[in-house]
Amino acid sequence: MNGVTGRMGLNQHLVRSILAIRKQGGVVLADGTRLMPDPILVGRNAAKLEQIAKEHGVARWTTGLRGALADQSDSLYFDAQVTALRATSVEMAIAAGKHVYCEKPLAKDSATAMQLATQAKAAGVKHGVVQDKLFLPGMIKLKRLVDNGFFGRILSVRGEFGYWVFEGDLQPSQRPSWNYRKQDGGGIILDMFCHWRYVLDHIIRRVRAVQCLGGTVIPERWDEQGNPYPCTADDTAYGTFELEGGIVAQINSSWSFRVYRDELFSLQVDGTLGSAVAGLRECRTQSKVNTPRPVWNPDVENPFRFREQWKVAPENETFDNAFKVQWEMFLRHIAEDAPFPHDFLEGARGVQLAELGLKSWHERRWIDVPELEA
Ligand SMILES: NC(=O)c1ccc[n+]([C@@H]2O[C@H](COP(=O)([O-])OP(=O)(O)OC[C@H]3O[C@@H](n4cnc5c(N)ncnc54)[C@H](O)[C@@H]3O)[C@@H](O)[C@H]2O)c1
Repeated sequence: MNGVTGRMGLNQHLVRSILAIRKQGGVVLADGTRLMPDPILVGRNAAKLEQIAKEHGVARWTTGLRGALADQSDSLYFDAQVTALRATSVEMAIAAGKHVYCEKPLAKDSATAMQLATQAKAAGVKHGVVQDKLFLPGMIKLKRLVDNGFFGRILSVRGEFGYWVFEGDLQPSQRPSWNYRKQDGGGIILDMFCHWRYVLDHIIRRVRAVQCLGGTVIPERWDEQGNPYPCTADDTAYGTFELEGGIVAQINSSWSFRVYRDELFSLQVDGTLGSAVAGLRECRTQSKVNTPRPVWNPDVENPFRFREQWKVAPENETFDNAFKVQWEMFLRHIAEDAPFPHDFLEGARGVQLAELGLKSWHERRWIDVPELEA
């Protein structure tokens, strides 16, 4: 596991996924046996790795990726390093014959992402990319509505993502500084359009075209050492996507929005028979028969409590951590060839949408999204 000193690597992947799987006694396979992951932590900083290993009772760690990859008894390489470093390490892992699972974006550009997909396929190793939002309770509930035909004909989709990320001067930033430097693999379009691609493709309909306006609205931030630096990457994006069947999806993404919503991400779907607003955890619906009949009249006090007219979708089950659920799927994919659709080609599709979004912004035009083939 490379990159476990980072936010995602440590919290989501090591602690809440792999160590949680170990704690529950492994992943139960179809034949009743249990697969128990035995991680080796890989990174640059020996002291940090040793500390994490000690704190969490992990037996093995190393600062030598090459040496770790040479060990034939370890079969899977996982990568949650900064985006800019991913492709080189993943390539090394494929060459060493390892199965590979990694964070998104798979690479900084779609040509590299496709190359990794081709290499993994040729090497005959299993490959996967994190598509965590699909395993969030709110998104699962939303997909159920789509699959049940709740919406009738889907007309439009509107998403709001973001929150205020502190600049780092008066109080520390809550995101790593590389996110705001293009040269280090930063930028909200590369970061978030990977997510929007699989969310739209898998939950609503496939993305066919993109139009995007980006911006760097905060020009200067302060890094982890408290030093000011110029922001060279986009931190805000207004994206419009045309989906199969002519559905229009608009998603605003920003690290400089202040939140007046129920959750940090919300997606509203409107259809002829009903509408829904889904967040990370919750999903509210309003069907055609329960739709109020507002009349435009700003001269009187608003008689509607619109939010109260929506129904909260019930839990009906206990949802596990989204990253852990996907990890378990991938481990089953390796051990018993269970289906796993979130492969490198899917990862490349995410990078492709980000790349075309950036192109659309720079060329100020709509761009079709061609089908990527393995
Ligand atoms: N799936 C998601 O929802 C999600 C959310 C946030 C980030 N991510 C992705 O996860 C990856 C890591 O993001 P993060 O927020 O954990 O970042 P982070 O800065 O907290 O962690 C980065 C990791 O890479 C390592 N690293 C190796 N070389 C480095 C270098 N030269 N400079 C800086 N770090 C270096 C760090 O030591 C650390 O372990 C990114 O690719 C990001 O796109 C995914």
